[in-house]
Amino acid sequence: ARIEKAGYKHFMAKEIAEQPVVLADALKHYSRDGALTLPEGVDFTGVDRVTMVACGTANYACQVAKYWFEQIAGLPCDVDIASEFRYREPPLSDRSWAVFVSQSGETADTLAALRYARDKVARIVSVVNVTTSSIARESDVSLPILAGVEVGVASTKAFTCQLSVLMLLAIKAGLDRGRLTEEDAKAHLADLALLPGLMNHALGLAAEISGIAEKLAEAQDILFLGRGAMFPLALEGALKLKEISYIHAEGYASGELKHGPIALIDNRVPVIVLAPHDALFEKTVSNMQEVMARNGQVLLISDGEGIRVAGHGCWKTLAMPDVPDRLAPILYAIPAQLLAYHTAIAKGTDVDQPRNLAKSVTVE
Ligand code: G6P
Repeated sequence: ARIEKAGYKHFMAKEIAEQPVVLADALKHYSRDGALTLPEGVDFTGVDRVTMVACGTANYACQVAKYWFEQIAGLPCDVDIASEFRYREPPLSDRSWAVFVSQSGETADTLAALRYARDKVARIVSVVNVTTSSIARESDVSLPILAGVEVGVASTKAFTCQLSVLMLLAIKAGLDRGRLTEEDAKAHLADLALLPGLMNHALGLAAEISGIAEKLAEAQDILFLGRGAMFPLALEGALKLKEISYIHAEGYASGELKHGPIALIDNRVPVIVLAPHDALFEKTVSNMQEVMARNGQVLLISDGEGIRVAGHGCWKTLAMPDVPDRLAPILYAIPAQLLAYHTAIAKGTDVDQPRNLAKSVTVE
């Protein structure tokens, strides 16, 4: 069937808006009555390491999932960029799994990395959107993310669906390794089930975000900061923005601010802080205050409590709904995507087909 914009101005807008529905579909596909229904081959018993390999946005999904595998399942996890992995020739153990994440399933470097890992690891697992793709076919187990066709070059719904499937894998790893009880797993799944509703709430912030984006469109450089699993989301936020608005943006771990990027701060540099009110909040706020002390223009994206405690003196704040801590990277992807989208609109750039970029990079 022909994919249409269904009344939206751009595919990207449509795909951002679809997230609550496709994410609910993916969750329904992989769980029933509070229990996981992942395919049989997904058994982490005896697995001592997970190596995740991907490019672009899919790589940032892996970087978020690393926190989950380590924290939820106590399973050591490496994340690599496919183009580095394939030529570095890393030693791999036959007790490890290699996980390849790719929307298209055809990214040349990711496919080459998969072929390198074959015969070296216990299992080749892929997390893909296109189920007929080369990466899906060449895996021992392939998990579809069920995002539906993604047309916009800047990946949006594939990212949040990749994250959801990776979270389900981390929960399964926790169960198989005896780190989680069935009850714990059930509680994690109940948390995930909140996401579609929370995402709808976050989508409702579009008008507010578009007002902020008009100001961001004037900037030359923008920094994104986050800590913990929000750090890779800062990387993704910066990637989205540069891909479609062509504004130079960088994501940084909040704690690295003083090791370089703080030198860039002045009153012309917007700094977007992605910080739900969680256990690391205070730390991030102190980094944020270092930015404010140098006249950096802070946009704090947090929940009601975070903004109440730390919003004073910020250039702008954006109040997100409360979300279970671990799932914040999935929910906060929405304002990151909307900021990029509306900034690009304000600049008049081609949102769905940004210059120089391809949806799928099938040559090296
Ligand atoms: C290109 C796309 C990105 C995507 C990356 C990896 O750069 O523009 O949106 O994240 O490739 O693609 P894949 O299909 O492997 O996820």
